[in-house]
Amino acid sequence: MELVFRPRRLRRREAIRKMVRETVLRPEDFIYPMFAAPGQKVKQEIEAMPGISRLSPDLLVEEAKAAYDLGVPAVLLFGLPLKKDETGSDAANPRGTVQQAVRALKKALPDLVVITDVCLCAYTSHGHCGIVHRGEIDNDATLEVLSEVALSHAEAGADMVAPSDMMDGRVGAIREALDERGFEMVAILSYAVKYASSFYGPFREAAESAPQFGDRRGYQMDPANSREAILEASLDVEEGADIIMVKPAMPYLDIISQLAGEFDQPIAAYQVSGEYAMIKAAAQKGWLDEQAVMLESLTSIKRAGADVILTYFAKDAAALAAKS
Ligand code: PBG
Repeated sequence: MELVFRPRRLRRREAIRKMVRETVLRPEDFIYPMFAAPGQKVKQEIEAMPGISRLSPDLLVEEAKAAYDLGVPAVLLFGLPLKKDETGSDAANPRGTVQQAVRALKKALPDLVVITDVCLCAYTSHGHCGIVHRGEIDNDATLEVLSEVALSHAEAGADMVAPSDMMDGRVGAIREALDERGFEMVAILSYAVKYASSFYGPFREAAESAPQFGDRRGYQMDPANSREAILEASLDVEEGADIIMVKPAMPYLDIISQLAGEFDQPIAAYQVSGEYAMIKAAAQKGWLDEQAVMLESLTSIKRAGADVILTYFAKDAAALAAKS
């Protein structure tokens, strides 16, 4: 038998494999999600997310600096409120936790890209991402509140806002509100394609944002749908989204790939809390090699078409990417 093609020739040595490698992770690929807590010197570990804590703004700056020094260019901030109420009013408080953290970060690390999550679920007493009216989410009333929240983040100095609520029309509403107030250069990273996923479990513990009644399937997408992802992304792009995100990441690689083929905007993918927790838990049991699985999962997300990846592994991944 005469074999003409022997793909193994290019796999023989690491130097050759490296030369023909299609996807290479860089520290610049990562965005580090962080949880801002009220107070000072506060560090509360999150049980289902080993290595991740809620941090008061002073300690959050230190942690962001550690990531920045490893080459991570951006953080995404979630806030824990001082108080929760029906309308999530603390979300737009100029002296709120996120707003304070943004100011502290911008002062200490002016070149760090600061992105803020815009949503109400951590701020409402019922835990939903919108204003509830007679047991239903009032989409259009929510848009006004979200616009106020985004404005308060821009005023604090955020470089980008990232609406994660999945209300219809929110990108357009936020874009208009920002432009009217002179924030036309603040970018929108939209959670364009956000599935109603069970992989958000550990995050809801971290952000204390689990819904107190019902679930999020009335606004987040059905995991069974892919054409709808194109529709959602198209709407967000028409409304002015600068970057479009798919979330979660690894269970939805097909969606990342489709969007990358269809749109010219950069694609972001969010490796969510449950994806992180699964790898951490299996590694703690000695069942998986944490570093190897982390890098393989992140490489697969980039290979599928993601330009940037939001991941709780950002620091470790950047350190390893810089060395490879
Ligand atoms: C808020 C929000 C969620 C996540 C990001 N923004 C949770 C949710 O929709 O319930 C999940 C992030 C993660 O799991 O890491 N709307």
